[in-house]
Amino acid sequence: MPLRRPSVIRSGVLYLTLLIPFALAGCANDLPQSTLSPHTESATLTYRLFEPIFWMAVVVFVIVEALLVYSAFRFRAHGNVKGLPEQMHGNTPLEIGWTIAPAIILGIIFLMTAQTLAAVSTPPVGGKEINVNVFGHQWWWEFQYPDLKGPDGKPLVTASDMHVPTNTTVKYTLQSVDVIHSFWVPQLNGKTDLIPGHINHGFFNAPAPGEFLGQCAEFCGAEHAQMRFKVFMDTDADFQAWVKNQQSLPAAPTGLAAQGAELFAKSACIGCHAIAGTKAVGLVGPNLTHFGSRTTIAAGALPNTPENLSKWLHNPEAVKPGNDMSVAMANMMADNWGPDTEKNISLMIAYLTSLK
Ligand code: CUA
Repeated sequence: MPLRRPSVIRSGVLYLTLLIPFALAGCANDLPQSTLSPHTESATLTYRLFEPIFWMAVVVFVIVEALLVYSAFRFRAHGNVKGLPEQMHGNTPLEIGWTIAPAIILGIIFLMTAQTLAAVSTPPVGGKEINVNVFGHQWWWEFQYPDLKGPDGKPLVTASDMHVPTNTTVKYTLQSVDVIHSFWVPQLNGKTDLIPGHINHGFFNAPAPGEFLGQCAEFCGAEHAQMRFKVFMDTDADFQAWVKNQQSLPAAPTGLAAQGAELFAKSACIGCHAIAGTKAVGLVGPNLTHFGSRTTIAAGALPNTPENLSKWLHNPEAVKPGNDMSVAMANMMADNWGPDTEKNISLMIAYLTSLK
């Protein structure tokens, strides 16, 4: 019995139907991590490169698919017709045509890309500037402001929430302390890798305040997906207020928080974390000086609330599986504190959330 040929039209309809959800997902340009709603000049230039290339690709796609569908339909085998239809192998004008046309299109794309690359890699001269050194860790982000002093006299440092002022060229360097990561805030700039032993650079300048989500964009291990951060574009006044707060020591803890501070200072915590004004000067984990003022914990995995902090300190593996350092932290607390673990964790939460 001859095989039944699927109807070309039916397959075409099925194919297009399957594409619809993807097309719609791509159109939702108010998604927080969409490159389709740029908020800086760099991101706008990249978007302006994407748009014409996308439409060129649409034209090529439609022509190629139309020819394919037409050929499949027009030259399909009919009942008793045997053999191949007329072949066009060796047709010189046709072969020259389909070599030159793509070459011209690729040439145009190359020129447009080179122009955009030059524009997005040359920071403007003059105007307000701020420098931020970005460090990628497995799996969190550290932001250091080399020109601003922190309360300990060293450069101001924070984690997960990066604050920068609007209408200012934010010049950032990218460095990794372990493996390759990639710094990506789709609405602010294209992605750039953080390569161990090599410093990369980037810049952006946003005219309007806002909160922008960033994400590590290079697979870097078990918790790559939970290596997030936020960029807060602040008005000048908001940024100055943030800096002023970050540069001062948090208010002295009282009550349970004070007990937590005492416990923290004599625990293994200080080997990995730093809190300005205390004995804690560890550099392995995030600096916790103003932990309470951050919006998330565990690199964007959870909103920064006492309930979530409790979840994190009790069982980090449940929040970020494969995160060995945090598991070691939880094990250390349980081993050292034994039956007091539960009570001591509440003291830690009281202390850490007080560090505004
Ligand atoms: Cu860091 Cu992926």
